[in-house]
Amino acid sequence: MIIAIDGPAAAGKGELTRRLAAHFDLARLDTGLLYRAVGWRVLAEGRDPADVAAAVAAAKTLIPAHLDEPELRTEAAGSAASKVAAIPAVRAALLDFQRDFAARPPLGKTGAILDGRDIGTVICPDAPVKLFLTARPEIRAERRAKELQAKGTEAIGSAVLRDMMERDARDRERSVAPLEPAQDAFVLDTSDMDADAVFAAALDYISRKFV
Ligand code: CDP
Repeated sequence: MIIAIDGPAAAGKGELTRRLAAHFDLARLDTGLLYRAVGWRVLAEGRDPADVAAAVAAAKTLIPAHLDEPELRTEAAGSAASKVAAIPAVRAALLDFQRDFAARPPLGKTGAILDGRDIGTVICPDAPVKLFLTARPEIRAERRAKELQAKGTEAIGSAVLRDMMERDARDRERSVAPLEPAQDAFVLDTSDMDADAVFAAALDYISRKFV
């Protein structure tokens, strides 16, 4: 089984992916972490994430240990991620790893769930289940600000909203693998739903699909 989850920042992908992975016993890959790790490595070298040579070199030498940095969850890493993610050669360098993960899930699992921006459109276009989560920008910014505050990071709602809108626009407008629902994706607006309701709606959709 392969489940593809896509959508903009803070639409609820992470929580839903964790729950579905546990429910169906699937290997889980947060593909955003790959782009965050590349962006963060470029920043750590004092380079600009939009610097193609630096970003491509970081993508080509990425190893699993780079995915464990706690800084990857910061907004600075998220913003750097969306800059390196717009570079076609960076995406190309990360493609095989993601497709291999889906084709041969690790840890003896028989299926995988991947979340990101282009899973249903580019990475796993044949996935039998594709979900696209979205929510109003103000709601997403509020969720992200709360997440950051819970981790002890100072976060001002209006600044989070501005950064997120900027990042979403970059993700939607890029020429390669832009953020958009696959034609056969189930689109779920989570603005007025809590995590339990999102999980229930996803399970309902999946069960109807496999009847
Ligand atoms: O957690 P959040 O939704 O804020 O972001 P993320 O999923 O960690 O992704 C960070 C950035 O990586 C996104 O804004 C995209 O620019 C990029 N990304 C991508 O281009 N393709 C993916 N499959 C996953 C992430």
